[in-house]
Amino acid sequence: MKNVKVLFEPDNIEIEVPEGTKISTAIKKACINFDLPCAGKGICGKCRVEILSGSVSTMGDTVNKGWVLACQTKINSYSHISLKPLKKHSQTQSEISPYLWNKKM
Ligand code: FES
Repeated sequence: MKNVKVLFEPDNIEIEVPEGTKISTAIKKACINFDLPCAGKGICGKCRVEILSGSVSTMGDTVNKGWVLACQTKINSYSHISLKPLKKHSQTQSEISPYLWNKKM
């Protein structure tokens, strides 16, 4: 399995992880303080991150851009990921990736 780089915003931290690593695992490896309230079970919806570029897979689907759950999403290639919280104006269901809203929160 090859390693891929991942760049986390807003702190501009880049690390290398094996392809297929969950985003939440990569965040932990980067020593970034990030809350996983349901311990990565995919039920709380609080670990949302934004894929700015790159390729990730969540629930069997590939996502190139959009909001995903860090605990349910694997990194496929070099990815640029924002850990900034959702902005208030974009918190409506229609403006967030359907990948996030497929899950009950
Ligand atoms: S930590 Fe709860 S959904 Fe990811």
